[in-house]
Amino acid sequence: MSDNKVVLNYDGNSFEYPIVDSTIGDRGIDISKLRDQTGLITLDLGYKNTGATLSDITYLDGDNGELYYRGYPIEQIAEKSNFSEVMYLLLHGELPTQDQFLKFEGGIKKYNYVADEMKKILDVFPRSAHPMGVLSSLTSALTAFNPKAVNVNSKEEMDEAAEMLLAKFSHLCAWTYRKKLGLSINHGDNNLNYVENFYKMCFRRPNMDFELDPVVVGALDKLLILHADHEQNCSTSTVRMVGSAHTGLFASVSAGISALWGPLHGGANQAVIEMLEMIEQDGGDVAKYVEKAKNKDDNFRLMGFGHRVYKNFDPRATIIKKAADDILTALGIEDKALDIAMQLERVALEDEYFVSRKLYPNVDFYSGIIYRALGIPTEMFTVMFALGRLPGWISQWKEMRLHNDPIGRPRQVYQGAQKRDYVDLSAR
Ligand code: ACO
Repeated sequence: MSDNKVVLNYDGNSFEYPIVDSTIGDRGIDISKLRDQTGLITLDLGYKNTGATLSDITYLDGDNGELYYRGYPIEQIAEKSNFSEVMYLLLHGELPTQDQFLKFEGGIKKYNYVADEMKKILDVFPRSAHPMGVLSSLTSALTAFNPKAVNVNSKEEMDEAAEMLLAKFSHLCAWTYRKKLGLSINHGDNNLNYVENFYKMCFRRPNMDFELDPVVVGALDKLLILHADHEQNCSTSTVRMVGSAHTGLFASVSAGISALWGPLHGGANQAVIEMLEMIEQDGGDVAKYVEKAKNKDDNFRLMGFGHRVYKNFDPRATIIKKAADDILTALGIEDKALDIAMQLERVALEDEYFVSRKLYPNVDFYSGIIYRALGIPTEMFTVMFALGRLPGWISQWKEMRLHNDPIGRPRQVYQGAQKRDYVDLSAR
């Protein structure tokens, strides 16, 4: 290998593949001619070494625990910015000027409602339905009420579609929350900012005056910022893959919601709290569950531990752990689950099994504790994640379409039966 190419020797021939440079982080080998030249394809289960695209939205360094949105470190963003500004940054690539910010907020407020017919769709779901299933269906249904296809070559149309989805999606998330609690739905209030508006749609009771609690709004804002994008994770790759067939934005995002639902991805925040409750109900024996997680004959895993990319620490987990402490103190809540979480973290981080496999608490280890303190039902946790991740999904979809990425279509190494002749049923 030289600095800018890799040489592959195969079957008596030598082939050269160029290195694609990055601004920081992993460089790639461009193998687009590999199959034509050699008859070989690559095999990389779970895409652990495969770059699916060129991107300039989010950078993360798993070995050093660093995460940047458009170049800005997550620590600075979480401390100094707010979720609305982060949405703009991800979508447009730069922090907004005051005028740009006002125009962006105004664009979202223009669509701060959802067609009344959508309520009928919500009504037919049973209250027991998982909110992520409801959210995915409603997001897909939005297409029917906003049927205009986005002209991806028009900046105005792209911006409008993004602002429309940001506005309406926050309603759908709030509606799934109200449905779960059996409460009538609230509509948006244009006097509030994005997070305040969402908070009010969720929490305003029909029989009480409504007051914004700045501690809760601040906590929600921070959680949404920390989830806003995370480069080519499972749900984002799904959104890009579906969109690569030139499927519309809303339907692509609906597919991403289904991907996020899984317990190995966004569903982990629900699974963490369920696990902490289970340990508590079982007498709080943390060591027993650490042993179970290490036992290869037991399917149990420590939820909220481990990450495909972070092999040192998850920088979001560090911020969120402190936020969880602050919020429980501010709200005067003592949560046994937090005690168990702390013990679990201590025991696991000293255990050779977790140390050697570089398994650290991830963002979802602590987010559930905050959501619980805010009174959000456990099944709603992944919906909160989806609301945070929405600007990331839209930005990645937009980038994929503007870069004109080809339709996603991986290959396979086939290991099934050789060609054989059909045998009639009577002869089998
Ligand atoms: N508990 C116990 N053992 C674990 C855990 C865990 N949480 N995570 C990984 N391991 C072990 C595996 O058994 C494996 O051990 P082995 O080498 O002896 O076979 C080794 O660590 C590597 O694990 P993989 O599953 O190969 O790692 P991968 O990168 O594919 O998976 C994942 C990452 C899915 C996040 C995994 O760590 C996991 O299941 N964690 C729990 C679920 C979770 O918290 N998900 C949230 C991820 S963050 C997010 O999506 C926002």
